[in-house]
Amino acid sequence: MNSNSASTPLSVVVTGGGGGIGLATVQLILERGGSVVIVDLDATRADELARQYPRRLQRFAGSVTDEARLLEIRELASRAAEVPLNGLVNCAGIAPIPTPIEDYPVEQWSRVLESHLTGTYIACKVFGAAFAQSGAPGSIVNLASVLAHRPGPVLAYGAAKSGVVSLTEALAAHWASRRVRVNAVAPGWTDTPFVRRKGRTDKDFRSIVDATPQGRLLDPAEIAEVILFLLSPAASAVTGSTINCDGGYVAGSGWAPYGSFPRAPSDAPDRYATTHPPRETP
Ligand SMILES: NC(=O)c1ccc[n+]([C@@H]2O[C@H](COP(=O)([O-])OP(=O)(O)OC[C@H]3O[C@@H](n4cnc5c(N)ncnc54)[C@H](O)[C@@H]3O)[C@@H](O)[C@H]2O)c1
Repeated sequence: MNSNSASTPLSVVVTGGGGGIGLATVQLILERGGSVVIVDLDATRADELARQYPRRLQRFAGSVTDEARLLEIRELASRAAEVPLNGLVNCAGIAPIPTPIEDYPVEQWSRVLESHLTGTYIACKVFGAAFAQSGAPGSIVNLASVLAHRPGPVLAYGAAKSGVVSLTEALAAHWASRRVRVNAVAPGWTDTPFVRRKGRTDKDFRSIVDATPQGRLLDPAEIAEVILFLLSPAASAVTGSTINCDGGYVAGSGWAPYGSFPRAPSDAPDRYATTHPPRETP
């Protein structure tokens, strides 16, 4: 039997829903008839969606690191929601700066761990526990990263995302009998303000594109499609999984000692930079 009922519309909390992958996920859920509660430090980028979907979109300012605020939001959102909350997508988190361990302040390490790992834990605790208690099916999707499997110089970020994968598996087993599924998506390099932070050069973008067998940055909407699949009853048997959505980044990482995987002839070195001028990170 499916653990999600096909007839129940999605009613999903999206942390970090004010930007990037979160905002793309919010848009897709709304387009497909579901309802959304955004929790973000800044949800103003969803203003246009709020005008389009006034009855199905709620927005709250708050940090995922603040358990009391998330409990308050849960109460307020549940009261106003037409359909009981049945989904959680954890997108919130700050962009890390690659720094050698010798120069990396502990405070910065803690901030990254706190927003990505502790924030995911707190949101799962607050909303997942309510799904489990309700007796109705629920689905949680956490945002991991390819850097959980292939750590780079963003030390705290890789550690946080490995932690997210581990937490996802632990909670999947913990809540399986309560009809709550818990999965993760591990995106590769995706074109959001997170990746387009200040200081990243055309050369950096060329390196990213060169390390990705599909030869491009991913679109946030492509990650949102995988998130939607995991939220939906189509994924009723999927729990505790982390799905790479990375243009082949992880699969391609073993090619380095042999040269490289085949590249498309159209991969001119400056192709990316000229078609996607960098944006400001808010
Ligand atoms: N963009 C990528 O290439 C990429 C790759 C792998 C994984 N990811 C992961 O996907 C998720 C979304 O990334 P994105 O690229 O959309 O980032 P983004 O910076 O575009 O959006 C992140 C959102 O989270 C919000 N936020 C940050 N800290 C918060 C907090 N404490 N509480 C509430 N909201 C907070 C920000 O305001 C922003 O709206 C992150 O977990 C990121 O680690 C992104």
